Amino acid sequence: SVSTSAAKKDESLISRMKNENRQVLIVYGSQTGTAEELSGRLAKDFARYSKKAIIIDPEMLDMDEFAKINEVENTLVVFCMATYGEGDPPDNAALLCEFLRDEQPNFSGVWFTVFGLGNKTYEHFNETAKMVDKRMEELGAERIFPMGLGDDDANLEEDFMRWREAFLPKVTGQFGWELNTDAEGSRQYRLEWVEEGRPYFKGEFGRLTAYERPRAPFDVKNPYLSTVTENRELHGDESQRSCKHIEFDVSKARIRYDTGDHLGVYPTNDSALVEAIIQLLDFNPDNVFRLINVDEDATKRNPFPCPTTARMALTHYVDICAPVKSHVLRGISEYTSDEKEKAHLQLLSTASEEGLALYNTYIQKERRSIVDILKEHPSCKPDIDHLLELLPRLQARYYSIASSPNKQPDKIAVCAVVTEYDIGSRHIKGVCTNFLRDKPVESNVPIFVRKSQMRLPTRPNVPVIMIGPGTGFAPFRGFLQERQHFKELGKDVGAMHLYYGCRHPDHDYIYKDELEAFVDAGVLTHLECAFSRAQAEKVYVQNKLWQTKERIWDALVQGAHIYVCGDARNMARDVQNTLLRIIREVGGKSEDEAVNYFKELEKHKRYQADVWS
Ligand code: FAD
Ligand code: 2AM
Repeated sequence: SVSTSAAKKDESLISRMKNENRQVLIVYGSQTGTAEELSGRLAKDFARYSKKAIIIDPEMLDMDEFAKINEVENTLVVFCMATYGEGDPPDNAALLCEFLRDEQPNFSGVWFTVFGLGNKTYEHFNETAKMVDKRMEELGAERIFPMGLGDDDANLEEDFMRWREAFLPKVTGQFGWELNTDAEGSRQYRLEWVEEGRPYFKGEFGRLTAYERPRAPFDVKNPYLSTVTENRELHGDESQRSCKHIEFDVSKARIRYDTGDHLGVYPTNDSALVEAIIQLLDFNPDNVFRLINVDEDATKRNPFPCPTTARMALTHYVDICAPVKSHVLRGISEYTSDEKEKAHLQLLSTASEEGLALYNTYIQKERRSIVDILKEHPSCKPDIDHLLELLPRLQARYYSIASSPNKQPDKIAVCAVVTEYDIGSRHIKGVCTNFLRDKPVESNVPIFVRKSQMRLPTRPNVPVIMIGPGTGFAPFRGFLQERQHFKELGKDVGAMHLYYGCRHPDHDYIYKDELEAFVDAGVLTHLECAFSRAQAEKVYVQNKLWQTKERIWDALVQGAHIYVCGDARNMARDVQNTLLRIIREVGGKSEDEAVNYFKELEKHKRYQADVWS
């Protein structure tokens, strides 16, 4: 009821833990929802030992309270901590990380462990998790189990499974917790039917009327239902791929954005896949229900907005395309009548060498979704409400904003290359880009703006070097529009160097006409295009940088800011190495001096990278 939840909110964390006899606190720093999902899975593990964990979003954590955590006897704090961008903590953990880094709480008597979520293609692999691990120890806490470092570039699920498999026995042994067989395989949410005619969620987040009566501020928890005003193809006829320029109207929302920010987009799942699940599991998709946490005191009441229908949940709220997580395989194996199929699902979800190897190929490499699994295990018929409880939430995707608010404050542009590929006989389509691809003008898409670090220099006369192959060009379109605006106002604008790269001038050279117009207007002073597949040998942006090395060095000497955007896997590193080489060979610096020079650029935000993989 309303009164108890209000009381809960006021009650301090410490007294809650004491009164409710809770020992375990799981703190997640999550940007895309994975760390939050892993927290939930760990909580379920603890529940099997009759331990009700508190899962905490650090944004909701009062640091003065947290500092007193050692007042609770034998507290165990488990951190599931992602690292994001250039080694930054996720937005929701920014304050917590600052607190841990800068303050001196006494954590003696507290047990802790950390599981990090990172990606080895980035330079600062799992930096946030490492910092938390180190600081907790320095602040007196006792590490109950070594930190696990998940690598999303390889197989984060496997990393987590291995870590959890070793962590659980350590913890239960340490505290002498006993397995409660009654709690085995039990549900976290109970199903409650809702009578017909009552309003229910049809894709909104938070509030039922969130789309009819939008209320600012808009963010990841409260997206704005914008209207598509433009959706056009950027690739040439001969390109095998598709890249769309899409604009969203935000005039009625008072959404502010800056060049360089990201746009979050909430997609919906392909209706053919939703239909496939409905057919395979044969249930009435339009009954209205609620899923309610069996832990009355849990902060998360429902796994997704409730009441809703299974059709709505499958369309808007759960991920049905990603490679299936092992706990989902384990959960649905219980509903499998054919013994061979059941054994297969159980092996796939077992953290043995054999199980992990099978998971790695069959699920991870071959990217089998829940739809694939149900098709290939026809006797597996999970209750739909249990399946919905197990599946992870469908997450927003991010796109670099490709427009400037000076030119178009009411419309936000992005450009997105459509993800599509074949694995064996299966054709796999990226969720969000295929959702966006065919969105007609006038249709609606839930969006929100996320602030980024990537900013033009405050003074418009400072030169900038922009390196952005492929859709990495997106934020630079905003930069060019912004500087053009200043130029039209009569301001003195600095040189703009663009290093753009694509496969072939006739196939995937996006915004070619606009770039030429920026050159003609004197805004884009130096345009270098690297075409990788237009001649026998590959030419990449870093080759163009090297060819124009004197100009790059001159610009650096004049105080230029450098921006790199796009692929994190190889491009960003190759570009950085080329820049270091220019600093050494043209700038006449030694190896160490060049590295320091580069660090200084980073420190003064004269080198900014916005890369993704
Ligand atoms: P999903 O359904 O999420 O599937 C994508 C996943 O499929 C990949 O993560 C990969 O694991 C897998 N995959 C992809 N190709 C293959 C393959 N050939 N073989 C096997 N597996 C594969 N994208 C843009 O187009 N433009 C932008 O401006 C842009 N800006 C971004 C800015 C930031 C800060 C970030 C984090 C990402 C940005 N992205 C951008 C990427 C974007 O967010 C999405 O990841 C991308 O559009 C794919 O989303 P999707 O839902 O279509 O695909
Ligand atoms: P390729 O696919 O032909 O190898 C945009 O994706 C452009 O970036 C393409 O022309 C692509 O070339 C190129 N690219 C691929 N790997 C790169 C790297 N390591 N550095 C710079 N550009 C790269």
